[in-house]
Amino acid sequence: MRQVRTLGLLGTGVIGGGWAARALHFGVDVVAADLKPEMEDWLRGAVANAEGALARLTFAPLPPKGRLTFTTDLHAMARQADFIQENIPEQLELKQRVLADVSRHAGADVVIASSTSGLMPSDLQREVSAPERLLVAHPFNPVYLLPLVELVGGRATSAAALDAAARFYTYIGMHPLRVRREVPGHLTDRLQEALWREILHLVNDGIATTGELDDSIVYGPGLRWAGMGTNLIYHLAGGETGMRHMLRQFGPCLKWPWTRLEAPELTEGLIDEMVAGTQAQAAGRSIRELERLRDDYLVAIQQVLREYNHGAGATLRALEERLYEAAAADARPRIAAAAAAGAPGSGGGSVRLLETHVRPEWIDYNGHMTDSRYLQVFGDATDALFRYAGIDEAYRRSGRALYTAETHVVHKAEARSQERLYVLSRVLEVDEKRVRLLHGLHRARDEVLVATAEQLYLHVSTQQGRVSPMDAEVRARLAALQAATH
Ligand SMILES: NC(=O)c1ccc[n+]([C@@H]2O[C@H](COP(=O)([O-])OP(=O)(O)OC[C@H]3O[C@@H](n4cnc5c(N)ncnc54)[C@H](O)[C@@H]3O)[C@@H](O)[C@H]2O)c1
Repeated sequence: MRQVRTLGLLGTGVIGGGWAARALHFGVDVVAADLKPEMEDWLRGAVANAEGALARLTFAPLPPKGRLTFTTDLHAMARQADFIQENIPEQLELKQRVLADVSRHAGADVVIASSTSGLMPSDLQREVSAPERLLVAHPFNPVYLLPLVELVGGRATSAAALDAAARFYTYIGMHPLRVRREVPGHLTDRLQEALWREILHLVNDGIATTGELDDSIVYGPGLRWAGMGTNLIYHLAGGETGMRHMLRQFGPCLKWPWTRLEAPELTEGLIDEMVAGTQAQAAGRSIRELERLRDDYLVAIQQVLREYNHGAGATLRALEERLYEAAAADARPRIAAAAAAGAPGSGGGSVRLLETHVRPEWIDYNGHMTDSRYLQVFGDATDALFRYAGIDEAYRRSGRALYTAETHVVHKAEARSQERLYVLSRVLEVDEKRVRLLHGLHRARDEVLVATAEQLYLHVSTQQGRVSPMDAEVRARLAALQAATH
């Protein structure tokens, strides 16, 4: 299976648009195909709309955004794609026909994943050429913010295709959940449908409004669900003996006919009731307005969970670690070359640590890059240098780190939106417990020096909370860079 540089999208509605936004944000090019040419404008609008919340998800250094192209030629899309995600309407015969057709124009090592909410991969792969690479990868709306993707293989799907898909989705910040056996509706939609069916009954029977039923989740179980699912929550509800006690105590209730298995008839009356109820809940707010509210709190919740390294927050942390590591890996050969070139005492050059560009959300009311983002860019440059010296996630886990003690920033020129920038750095001083760096931030177009930052870092034992000597190997690497760049 090949490395995914270009994602091909088949169908660019709500879900296709969400996939496009997520992939582009994390630096993957997208070739999007839809039968309707008017979907191009819609898609570009959906990507721009998603960017507002996505841009706030993480401060980790991001690669340049991917490039988006649109076509109505499905075969052309298939020829260019390293991975294809299908998002056309939920109709078995349509999906079977289009997947089979597209598969004949894609390389045999290109994974083809269907976003289907409920169809089974064995049914979808029947006419597909090289059916071992077809699988279901079911995302959740908004795809650009929710990390869950259910991965389901069919009878012909290979383990290699499932592994390659899991690697790709992890790369773009998702949590692939392997579904062991294909069942209609996979896992999540079966659970969601049970709830949905009961909602329709309760509204149909005039027992509650849509708003009251939403309140019954939002003020209670919904808050728990962001961090723990029903099973672990019920384990806690059983007191010290957990799930066993819980089942003994509440098990008998399961025999009572609390909930129903058949959905009610979708009569015009019930439809009107559901529509009127949700319109009252929206209280005049547009879909776009409500989407913004939803997106904002989805970002905030994931950032809170990141503090606990738990659930979707653990996924976000893992993504950030990958992004920092990728930025450092990019700089590593340049740092190594600089260290090798500079014989001790020869002094001279500086090392290019970071290449980035001014993201639109970094702009302040004066139209140029705002103060705090300078610290972010200099921080990312330092991170790349320290990782080269050996201060990585494992080093930090061992209870040692370099903390910023002092920063002196001098602003010299402006940086505007989308401006390409790079950072040149020198190690001014290293001793057992301290490192002093000088960074220069430059504009790529004219090499003008935009700002400098002189920073002092102290090596600390994070357990003892005080300054401590650094690892000898780390110090030697920093000293070699000092000799080469001071
Ligand atoms: N909407 C959701 O919340 C959600 C969530 C998860 C998965 N899904 C699944 O994603 C898929 C797409 O759902 P959606 O909500 O984005 O639908 P949608 O109606 O918004 O988009 C479907 C798109 O497919 C295009 N299309 C139709 N036939 C085509 C063809 N032959 N070739 C190329 N493009 C074609 C349409 O023009 C449209 O732009 C479905 O399988 C659905 O079950 C939806």
